[in-house]
Amino acid sequence: MPDSIIDTLKKEIEGFDREIRSEKIGKVLEVGDGIARVSGLSGAASQEMLDFETSNGVIKGIAFNLEEDNIGAIILGDYLKVKEGDVVRPTGRVLSLRVGDELIGRVVNALGEPQDGKGPIFKSGAAEVFYPVDRIAPGVTARESVNTPLHTGIKAIDSMIPIGRGQRELIIGDRQIGKSSIVIDAIINQGKETRYSRPICIYVAIGQKESKVAKIVDTLTKAGAMEYTVVVSAPSSSPSSLWFLAPYAGCTIGEYFMHQGKDALVIYDDLSKQAWAYREMALLSRRPPGREAYPGDIFYVHSRLLERAARLNKENGGGSLTAIPIIETQLGDVSAYIPTNVISITDGQIYLEPELFNQGMRPAVNVGLSVSRVGSAAQTKAMKKVAGKLRLELAQFRELAAFAQFASDLDEGTKKRIQRGKILSQVLKQGELQPMPFERQVAAIFAATNGYFDDIDSEKALEISYQMLGYMDKMHQGVFAEILKSGEISKETEEKLKRAISEFKDSNHE
Ligand SMILES: Nc1ncnc2c1ncn2[C@@H]1O[C@H](COP(=O)(O)OP(=O)(O)O)[C@@H](O)[C@H]1O
Ligand SMILES: [Mg+2]
Repeated sequence: MPDSIIDTLKKEIEGFDREIRSEKIGKVLEVGDGIARVSGLSGAASQEMLDFETSNGVIKGIAFNLEEDNIGAIILGDYLKVKEGDVVRPTGRVLSLRVGDELIGRVVNALGEPQDGKGPIFKSGAAEVFYPVDRIAPGVTARESVNTPLHTGIKAIDSMIPIGRGQRELIIGDRQIGKSSIVIDAIINQGKETRYSRPICIYVAIGQKESKVAKIVDTLTKAGAMEYTVVVSAPSSSPSSLWFLAPYAGCTIGEYFMHQGKDALVIYDDLSKQAWAYREMALLSRRPPGREAYPGDIFYVHSRLLERAARLNKENGGGSLTAIPIIETQLGDVSAYIPTNVISITDGQIYLEPELFNQGMRPAVNVGLSVSRVGSAAQTKAMKKVAGKLRLELAQFRELAAFAQFASDLDEGTKKRIQRGKILSQVLKQGELQPMPFERQVAAIFAATNGYFDDIDSEKALEISYQMLGYMDKMHQGVFAEILKSGEISKETEEKLKRAISEFKDSNHE
């Protein structure tokens, strides 16, 4: 018995490998405003996660500015707890996020930690899947062209500035003009999508007041939309580093669903605030400021993020990630640095205008200045059919209306076109929290562009269009079903649609 113990010991000693491992640890040189200068970590990788071992426990950080003799690190927690001389341990991992279906319905921060008081997101024992927060966008060979609509439920957008799955469409405008309302409605509308698969939505709130985010979550919950939505929140009270990281976290979660072969929609509300946060971080870590004091690579920050939106081809699972970034302008100035950057990176923009908003033309979409560069390829035939005429007539109306202000007497043709334009503008109005499925949009726009509302007071056109849809619900359900199923307006359907509208008008006049 003792012999065998000795044998074992001998074996162990022979096998002893005298490998000396050196572990690099750093030391905090100085700390302030969420940024720490750390010595002794010259080998750290960009975006490598660091552990700050403070007297108050471990606080996470990431390597941000890599310089020769020291590095600038972002502290991702309460930086007041980090003190000069604290030990900093590199983790060897770049910043990553745990992902999974369990995120659906949850509110998380930029590090993926729950913020909704509903306990841990992942059950212990479940497979742990980590995704790097920064990832190279899929290459062209993995992509397919955008060909499926992402219906927002907003008439003016789905008809004239359609968004396709995998596209990047910017929403831009001043503050308090309905930008957030549009995207909230778009999320809610995904729950009503019956023609295509329902996308998973990720709403990223950047630098918004906590109370506002809570209100949005409440709205989404009441609408049943949290069943397919993840909210990533970096509220105004959180450090700027988290404002900066939140969009990446949202994008990463979206990528996870895209890689599952699903469609995902990520909304960044808004990237102006992310740019401010980045500027602050860069200035604090003493990077040289460029235009408008933003660091020189701010363009790269936004393009790298938005490039990750994609429609993958079949060989790569066929999933998609659609991105809707929001940019807030100051006094409508779209030529400022950040707006021009993001306009040039995206596949189109929806431009919201204060004058329209104040006149009550809401959503305040300026159709003339808005475009979607890939959208119409991703529109149903039915929508394409009614939308072409709509765009044209509205463009003519805008021209005529400007000119008619100065003309005393107008010929009949001009008057008619102006009346039609007014009706169309009214029919495109839409209150909040009333997203409309595309087959209903098609019917309403069909009626307006085919002159069925020409004889009514334009101020009443919106109300009448809703009444008409209500009448069709009761008497002609089949027409909606046909448009929904086929995605087209066949000759036969068109006849039925015309009959339904005429019948409604007759019944309305009695
Ligand atoms: N379609 C709409 N109809 C009526 N009111 C709207 C509409 N869209 C937005 N609003 C109102 O306008 C205000 C600003 O909207 P919000 O979406 O928060 O603007 P932003 O995100 O551009 O700051 C809110 O009070 C909202 O209720
Ligand atoms: Mg907003």
